[in-house]
Amino acid sequence: MTDALPTASKSNGADAAWLRTLASKFLVFEGPDGSGKSTQLKRLIETCAAAGVEITTVREPGGTSVGEQIRSVLLDPSSTMTLRCEMMLYMASRAQLVEEIVRPALAKGHLVIADRFLTSTFAYQGAGGGLSAEDIRDVGRVATQGIRPDLILIYYVDVDTATARTRGVPQGKKKSSEALRGVTLFDDRIEQRSDDFRRRVHESYLAQAKADPAHHALIDAKASAEQVWSLTLNELRSRFAPKA
Ligand code: TYD
Repeated sequence: MTDALPTASKSNGADAAWLRTLASKFLVFEGPDGSGKSTQLKRLIETCAAAGVEITTVREPGGTSVGEQIRSVLLDPSSTMTLRCEMMLYMASRAQLVEEIVRPALAKGHLVIADRFLTSTFAYQGAGGGLSAEDIRDVGRVATQGIRPDLILIYYVDVDTATARTRGVPQGKKKSSEALRGVTLFDDRIEQRSDDFRRRVHESYLAQAKADPAHHALIDAKASAEQVWSLTLNELRSRFAPKA
C-alpha cells in the first residue's frame, strides 16, 4: 500500500494516515431511531475508503441472505410474536452475520462497520420490551461467540428530537426493498410502540454508554450533521490514532 493519500479523504476533514489504524477493527453504530447515525456511518465509510482502508459494512437485522429473510419476518406487520421470539430472531440474524461476514472480514484485516448490534437488543427488547439483561447477555454470547466491538458509537438525541426527525422522514424513503413495499421497521412495528417504550430505549443507550465508557463513545447527535461528524472523527482519532 502506498503512503500517498487521496485528497478526497483530506477534503473530508480527516488527516487520513491515522485512519489506517482502523484496519481489523470492529465498529458499531448505534442510537435510537431518528439519531442520524446512518448519515455518519455513510460518511465514515466514504472517508475510510478514500484513505485506502478496506471496509466491510453490515446492517442489522439482516446483512446475509438468511438474515434478510429474518428481517422480513421481523418487519411483516402480520408477524405476531412474543418478545422472546423477537429477541431470538434478532440474535439468529446476528449469529449468521458474525460467522458468515464479521469474523472472516476481520481476519482479512478489514475495518468492519455494523449498523446496530447487541446494544440495540439490550435497548429495545431489554429496556424497552422488558427482557432481562442477563437473558440477553446469555443468548448474545451464543450468537456472537463472544466477539466484542472495539468501539460502539452511540448517537444520542432526546426523545422529542428523535420523534420529530423520524416523523419528518417520508414513508418508504429509508431502505430499497422496504421502500418498494412502502414500509420500514420504524414505520410499522416500532412506530406502534408507546412513548414510554421509547423513553426506556433512550435511557438504556445512556446507561449502556455510562456503564462501559472504554467500549462506548456517547456522541451528542442533536447538533448539525457537520458538527456530529467532527465529534465522530475526534472520538475515533483520540481512541485509535497512534499517540504522537
Ligand atoms: P431499520 O429500518 O434498519 O432502522 P435504523 O436505520 O434505525 O437502524 O430498523 C431497525 C429497527 O430494529 C430499529 O427500530 C431497532 C430495531 N432493532 C431491535 O429492536 N433489536 C435489535 O436487536 C436490532 C438490531 C434492531
